[in-house]
Amino acid sequence: MTRFTDFTRFAIDAIRNQRLAWIALCGLCASSAAPAWDALPQQAPVQADNPMTAAKIELGKQLFFDPRFSSTGTVSCNTCHNLMLGGDDNRPLAMGVHGLTGPRNSPTVWNSAFHASQFWDGRAASLEEQAKGPVVASVEMGMNNLDTALNRVRAIAGYRTAFAEVFGGKEPVSIGNAAMAVAAFERTLITPNSPYDRWARGDAGAMTAQQVRGLLQFDQLGCTGCHQEPLFGGPRKPGGHFAVFPFHDGGFVDQYRLREDSGRFAATGRESDRHKYKVPTLRNVALTAPYFHNGAVPTLEQAVRVMAAAQMNVALTDAQVDDIVAFLQALTGEFPAITLPRLPPTLGSSLRVD
Ligand code: HEC
Ligand code: HEC
Repeated sequence: MTRFTDFTRFAIDAIRNQRLAWIALCGLCASSAAPAWDALPQQAPVQADNPMTAAKIELGKQLFFDPRFSSTGTVSCNTCHNLMLGGDDNRPLAMGVHGLTGPRNSPTVWNSAFHASQFWDGRAASLEEQAKGPVVASVEMGMNNLDTALNRVRAIAGYRTAFAEVFGGKEPVSIGNAAMAVAAFERTLITPNSPYDRWARGDAGAMTAQQVRGLLQFDQLGCTGCHQEPLFGGPRKPGGHFAVFPFHDGGFVDQYRLREDSGRFAATGRESDRHKYKVPTLRNVALTAPYFHNGAVPTLEQAVRVMAAAQMNVALTDAQVDDIVAFLQALTGEFPAITLPRLPPTLGSSLRVD
């Protein structure tokens, strides 16, 4: 029995109807790109109350790479969201200070600026709101409270100057301003021009025939009902888009402990949110193994099998899995060149551990 929420059902039908006409005309041909597919924009939407400036982005980059705001002085945002990799840590569960692991897998920060909400369960509405969390999470950066973290920033003269220049005002070093700077930097972490994007813009040779086949399978199976382009994540609607996972038992629930986490229920307390998750982006998904909120599934092939079983109650053939994985590999984009920031120094003293 397949029971989708009304919205999901509606979305799947609408997208199918729109595309079926094209598929009927074109079949599995690789020579002409479908006009209906959207490419990733080159720039992320900017939040009106947090305009982007070069100085703010640079400050956000410094904070992102700086480990001095973790209790041990060893963990930065980049520890778990490694920008030299796929924006994650390739570990099942994130590891923070003292080698402590949290309950969830680190999602990528690449393209997170396009999400309608942040975290696996969507409990933060914006990047600004999200950025305040990790510093005081005991298993992440482990600071006692945000004031202690801010004092670490204030103790570094170069940061006092940079915050004053970027934000002005009486108390330029504030958690709100730090979060705005980090969010501004994150809005530059966009990976456009993947083979899929070039294909969607009309370069018919940008994807292989197998990748085009995989995209059509992905669409026909109904994966696009939730993973919608251009992000191949949930549709951007206020508050975000959530789905129950796993919806069907599908045979993988015990093997991968898929119902141990209560999902969005833990954030809202609403029974209807139990086991609901934000539909994650599939951009660069080939780089971000292992998969799902608990990182329990080690390979992309297996993640595709689990999804078809858990959401559609469909057991895919090996050939279907190969085609879909080939398509998902076409979602690996171009990574902008990032130079490491120089950090304002801690002069002539060691890091004071509070
Ligand atoms: C110890 C590892 C760790 C550190 C350090 C860390 N994060 Fe995360 N991050 C995670 C995990 C795990 C999640 C998912 C948690 C959840 O959904 O409950 C996450 C979620 C996010 C998300 C949401 C992405 C999405 O797809 O929903 C963003 C954005 C993010 N982190 C940015 C940051 C920033 C900025 C910092 C530094 C201030 C930071 N993280 C520090 C592990 C870490
Ligand atoms: C009803 C909505 C829905 C449908 C339909 C759906 N997905 Fe998902 N997908 C999700 C959600 C929600 C998650 C996050 C699950 C979790 O980890 O808690 C997810 C996660 C994934 C992941 C892992 C991403 C990561 O970073 O760990 C892959 C890969 C994936 N889906 C592929 C597919 C494929 C292929 C299909 C079609 C066979 C599909 N999905 C159909 C909602 C859906």
